Amino acid sequence: MKVLVVGGGGREHAIIKKLKENKTIEQIFALPGNGGIAADAECVNVAATDIDKIVDFAIQSQIDYAVVAPDDPLVLGCVDALNAKGIACFGPNKAAAIIEGSKVFSKNLMKKYGIPTAEYEVFDDADKALKYLETAPIPTVIKADGLALGKGVIIAMTRQEAKNAVVSIMQDKQFGKSGDNIVIEEFLTGPEVSVLSFTDGNVVVPMISSMDHKRAGDNDTGLNTGGMGTVAPNPYYTKDIAEECMQKIFLPTIRAMKAEGRTFKGCLYFGLMLTPKGPKVIEYNCRFGDPETQVVLPLLESDLLTVMQAVTNETLADTEVKFSDKNACCVIMASKGYPSSYEKGYEITIPTELLDSTYVAGATLKDGKLLTSGGRVLGVTSIANTLKEAITVSYKKVENINFENRYFRNDIGSKALKAGEEN
Ligand code: AMP
Ligand code: GLY
Repeated sequence: MKVLVVGGGGREHAIIKKLKENKTIEQIFALPGNGGIAADAECVNVAATDIDKIVDFAIQSQIDYAVVAPDDPLVLGCVDALNAKGIACFGPNKAAAIIEGSKVFSKNLMKKYGIPTAEYEVFDDADKALKYLETAPIPTVIKADGLALGKGVIIAMTRQEAKNAVVSIMQDKQFGKSGDNIVIEEFLTGPEVSVLSFTDGNVVVPMISSMDHKRAGDNDTGLNTGGMGTVAPNPYYTKDIAEECMQKIFLPTIRAMKAEGRTFKGCLYFGLMLTPKGPKVIEYNCRFGDPETQVVLPLLESDLLTVMQAVTNETLADTEVKFSDKNACCVIMASKGYPSSYEKGYEITIPTELLDSTYVAGATLKDGKLLTSGGRVLGVTSIANTLKEAITVSYKKVENINFENRYFRNDIGSKALKAGEEN
């Protein structure tokens, strides 16, 4: 069997490493992959958004199964295009990927089906949005409708900041057409939980919960990033809360998508906030989260390909999806200066014994050397019986992975550790 994984970050590396445990897979291609992924898959030099070339490659290489991991190709209809040529895929079609591709769509879906989320207003006109902001409760949250590389959400602590956000998104077109429409929503508070789930459109199977660390600096300071580290499980996500989320959020969401003629098949990611008024949806993603995947998949005990194919074939109800009861911690090593400007091209040295637990996000191979090529360079994951141990081991590993100008947060998991002790 030949498998194609579309994408080229740490998430894709984690997917590929897990898939490799299945011995019926003869070959895995990563498109485009990266210099680190090249150790585990054959990399194909095509952009993950070039749908025509992806389809051509899949046909020529006789791909049996494709996993489309990033948001942009999913929203562009990569799965539809591959399916049209008879290639089975893991990932939602274009009609379903809109749940991440349009925040206006997802907010309206939640309102229509009574799924708990922040109160909101939608605007297609900057003047009306600015007028609304004169009396809106502050802090408030401004969201560009479309994909914006994870930067389309602005938490405005003052009225002026909110107005500036509207001007830069709607008038200056900071995110291009993604900002033609915006959502202005209620500012919520509470611990955040990421729940990735497998769904075939009929049943939904949540994976182990996790906690992301989005800010660049220790103690959640500094700019928002793609994620500086993760732990799983998330101690705030108790059994009772999980059951409440299943009944009030997960099942209603997949039923709503089906009722809308947009059956969702793939990994549906629920970004939740546990507010004083109960769990609410902050965002949906139509894909595995990054770096959540780097802690969630290492804890998956079932065969990933089998579960993915059950999603494709709509037989998830009959398929076992089992997670270990251990803890995992992933620390992201980035280039100093990320998410703003940073230098690239530094040689990375990873001791051989750490390769298995390293997920490479931004590196290229040059003359046999692995060089940094991105803001987030790699993630280092450890699994242990306790969260404390997983954190300690990950930071020990980090000390042994070197490149010039490396940067990482020193407190990944410490909030979870504290919460776990209090619970
Ligand atoms: P996103 O880029 O969509 O992942 O959102 C970034 C972060 O913004 C989330 O992880 C939350 O921390 C925060 N956020 C989004 N919406 C809200 C909200 N309504 N209230 C408070 N924080 C929010
Ligand atoms: N870690 C959040 C995301 O993948 O969007």
